[in-house]
Amino acid sequence: MRSVYEGVYARSMQDPDGFWAAAAEAIHWEKRWDRVFDDSRPPFYRWFTGGVLNTCYNALDVHVDRGRAKQKALVYDSPVTGTVQAFTFAELRDEVARCAGMLQKLGIAKGDRVIIYMPMVPEAVVAMLACARIGAIHSVVFGGFASNELAKRIDDARPKLILSASCGIEVNRVIPYKPLLDGAIELARHKPGRCVILQRPQERAPLVAGRDLEWGDALAGARPADCVPVAATDPLYILYTSGTTGVPKGVVRDNGGHAVALKWSMANIYGVGAGEVYWAASDIGWVVGHSYIVYAPLLEGCTSILYEGKPVGTPDPGAFWRLIAQHGVNALFTAPTAFRAIKKEDPQGTHMTRHDLSRFRTLFLAGERCDPDTLHWAEDKLGVPVIDHWWQTETGWPIAANCVGLGTLPVKAGSPTKAVPGYDVRVLDEANADLPAGQIGSIAIKLPLPPGCLPTLWNNDAGYEASYLAKHPGHYLTGDAGYRDEDGYVYIMSRVDDIINVAGHRLSTGAMEEVLASHPDVAECAVVGVADDVKGEVPVGFVVTKAGVERGDGDIARELIEKVREQIGPVAAFKTAIVVKRLPKTRSGKILRGTMKKIADGQEYVLPATIDDPAILGEITDALQQKGYAKTR
Ligand code: COA
Ligand code: AMP
Repeated sequence: MRSVYEGVYARSMQDPDGFWAAAAEAIHWEKRWDRVFDDSRPPFYRWFTGGVLNTCYNALDVHVDRGRAKQKALVYDSPVTGTVQAFTFAELRDEVARCAGMLQKLGIAKGDRVIIYMPMVPEAVVAMLACARIGAIHSVVFGGFASNELAKRIDDARPKLILSASCGIEVNRVIPYKPLLDGAIELARHKPGRCVILQRPQERAPLVAGRDLEWGDALAGARPADCVPVAATDPLYILYTSGTTGVPKGVVRDNGGHAVALKWSMANIYGVGAGEVYWAASDIGWVVGHSYIVYAPLLEGCTSILYEGKPVGTPDPGAFWRLIAQHGVNALFTAPTAFRAIKKEDPQGTHMTRHDLSRFRTLFLAGERCDPDTLHWAEDKLGVPVIDHWWQTETGWPIAANCVGLGTLPVKAGSPTKAVPGYDVRVLDEANADLPAGQIGSIAIKLPLPPGCLPTLWNNDAGYEASYLAKHPGHYLTGDAGYRDEDGYVYIMSRVDDIINVAGHRLSTGAMEEVLASHPDVAECAVVGVADDVKGEVPVGFVVTKAGVERGDGDIARELIEKVREQIGPVAAFKTAIVVKRLPKTRSGKILRGTMKKIADGQEYVLPATIDDPAILGEITDALQQKGYAKTR
């Protein structure tokens, strides 16, 4: 197919109202919108104001009503429990309606917040859609976060109810969730009225009398709930993501713009249609899981795969190929780190040859920079187009991509291709001027953002403006730095803030520094993201102890590692803490984190002119080399 990308992109820029109004025709509205684009309260732009719809209706009921009742909507595949379970659209709708009835029985109504802290089980997806069905606002918290992180989200979202499970399963380890939940509620100032706990056979959780209910008991006698119409601008969910401090940002997603953008993305970006099988190998705790395990595939009428397993170890690096063959997957979306993990264990791709991958058409990668080696390896071994695309929690759907549905453009390794229709992507300098091709700058999106992107932060309009709109007036700050080439291809090179990407998971080094700094023996500290063959980046912490501390460095390092695991969670993958005598600083006292990162990665660096004492860099290099870093490349 000849690419029609340029024409479609131009139309989205010249007539956004017409463009998005046409896309909105694919959604069922209880009442059509009054205005496609509402700029009555800048910079808080809204889409489809006056429109009324229900997202769950569009994801489930509409397909049951239009002939897809018996088609599989969701396939749960869990090698860690040895389970494969399919739900048709009719079955999933009925499960969701019953769960929504359970929520209503527990007093949950439109606008109430419900936190979902659950592993990758069907009940978690059912719970998300059940909230959407009655207009409650869900906030899913990733299972790899510890009590303290969950507590921060409880305090910000102030949920009436928390839905959780007795445990998660990580490869072959049972991870009890309930103690983490109980710990979080104890830490939080806000106390939810009720918790409903799914007891999994691998681990039974003790319940707190008067507060906790078992899932089955709570569900018993619940009457199926109808869809509650909500305003297009009402929140569908809040998803917390790492900011530059320890306080996570509550990204708000609306109902109308989200449904329109996500449905548009399935055909046009992913080139996938109703009846096809789409698999996002991510977790419902991340935005990829929200958008491309739950909402977008179902809005499109696809079968979506819910995978409780890893790319390797469950049981081997052929897991992805087994699923693709067994469920007839047409498109797979995952993070490059998953492919690096597979490539490491099966460099020849021998596991691929054992499975029938004939229905598999396209591989999509996102979540972190896709290194050309991984891209080429996947292309060579799979023999299908491998599409890198770039987006973030805040946008909810891709900002730059090779839009397969509009005709694939030539792939350039290292680039997620071009701006997606709807996004006016700019590369700006410090004075907010557009930079010419080839020059690295701050990547921003000229306002307004297209439908589906965050309208604000939860209960924090000022924080939204300060975090995203203040730096480049009239633009949204993505926080990424990069450039555009002569052909308009975008290249995302690094973050401009202290966010790092560990195995596709977005984490704040600032948050880790806060944890290290709270250790009684620590005087000052710095955390930097260091290159890692599989995870892309891993955090490494440097600490200087207070005068007079005479305990062994090894003991302190162990305590710090444990503290980060306890306060942020295992997902932080914080496994290296190094006690040093001093940290390298500028004369004005600014810690030279960038230089430390370069040393750790074995890259050449320019001695900063303002460095206070260059000898410290030698000490840092020695310390890193002892840990296996700072190898000259
Ligand atoms: N609940 C509890 N603990 C969890 C968890 C969850 N839902 N998810 C991860 N963890 C734990 C892991 O068990 C591990 O703990 P450990 O330090 O005790 O071993 C730690 O958090 C780090 O997990 P992870 O990042 O998954 O690393 P890993 O070494 O277990 O696996 C990969 C590495 C590359 C295989 C894995 O990160 C992966 O599949 N990544 C795909 C990325 C992805 O889905 N990104 C989402 C955006 S697309
Ligand atoms: P998250 O909000 O967790 O999805 O993380 C978003 C961040 O991940 C982006 O701001 C980028 O820094 C990074 N990222 C996501 N996709 C890509 C990509 N395709 N290329 C480079 N970086 C990416």
